[in-house]
Amino acid sequence: MDVEHSAVQHASAQPANPWRLSVAPMLDWTDRHCRYFHRLLTRHTRLYTEMVTTGALLHGDQARHLDFNPEEHPVALQLGGSEPADLAACARLAQRWGYDEVNLNCGCPSERVQRGAFGACLMAEPQLVADGVKAMRDAVDIDVTVKHRIGIDKIESYDFVRDFVGRVAEAGCEVFIVHARNAWLQGLSPKENRDIPPLRYELVHRLKREFPQLTIVINGGIQTDEQIAEQLQHVDGVMVGRQAYHEPWQMALWDERFFGQVGPAVSREALEAQWLAYLERHCAAGHSWPQAMRHALGLYNGLPGARRWRQVWSDHQLKTLPPAEVAQQALAARLEQVRRQQETDARRQAQLPPG
Ligand SMILES: Cc1cc2nc3c(=O)[nH]c(=O)nc-3n(C[C@H](O)[C@H](O)[C@H](O)COP(=O)(O)O)c2cc1C
Repeated sequence: MDVEHSAVQHASAQPANPWRLSVAPMLDWTDRHCRYFHRLLTRHTRLYTEMVTTGALLHGDQARHLDFNPEEHPVALQLGGSEPADLAACARLAQRWGYDEVNLNCGCPSERVQRGAFGACLMAEPQLVADGVKAMRDAVDIDVTVKHRIGIDKIESYDFVRDFVGRVAEAGCEVFIVHARNAWLQGLSPKENRDIPPLRYELVHRLKREFPQLTIVINGGIQTDEQIAEQLQHVDGVMVGRQAYHEPWQMALWDERFFGQVGPAVSREALEAQWLAYLERHCAAGHSWPQAMRHALGLYNGLPGARRWRQVWSDHQLKTLPPAEVAQQALAARLEQVRRQQETDARRQAQLPPG
């Protein structure tokens, strides 16, 4: 069992709301394999799909976009779109497929999304968002939520985001996930738009104070469990994106720390075995494993041997082997690196002056 987590303090076990912790929707990252892997790490954290556009859903391969593993619950489908009738039709699909929530993206700044007139530019059209939310709420019983920014371009005033939330709430939205920085629609790439506009958490805290009846979830730049706990003093929930993806093992303690679940801690090795079983099933169904495995490459991060383990799993020459065989090679490489590290440490110790 990993001992590094045992020292972490437990937060008081308050009755959890369903949005207390979530992993952010991330295009190309939070596909169904990624979500299955995350679910092995945490039972209660809410998971989001990548954004799917209404056009792709209504005119494309619905099963490819919507199928998920039943283990993934609670899981939300994120939609990109702006046309209320299309949003309603897609919300119906989400409900039929068994999603727990449908979320509307009002935070993505990419040019492609702007051309489609949705994502972050929707913040300039709160009535259109309100109409979309109402159409979805009229169409389905599952939760309808909105993910947005605190502003667009150079609009820095709190009033802008307050009026947006106020208008959309009037249409029946009760849960707002707020990425606590502006989206600059000109001149920044989507990646830069996740780092450069400054984070202003205090605006999100103020939203919660002024709309106490709403569920307000904060997002953006939150990394440590201590930061999560701090944010939960001000808002109802925290959504974590990049940190959860890159350092997945951090999530293994979240059920205990943030949802008050008492139970035996799982070891990384036991979790890897469960994940391997998933990869084996995936291969038995005729797929190859590397697309799924890429999401799990950070499993041993922070432990000696993690780099070698990752290298073996990323080795192109091994991609046609069954996952169990690659796992054996990765384990051997990891243990070898650990052994070498121990030898180096022992040598260093021996050279130290006594006392
Ligand atoms: C690779 C990547 C893809 C993303 N795709 C989406 C998306 O499809 N929908 C969305 O609302 N946000 C998307 N985001 C933004 C995240 O949901 C989140 O708001 C952002 O990364 C800030 O949170 P963080 O600092 O915890 O990562 C994406 C972020 C990344 C890194």
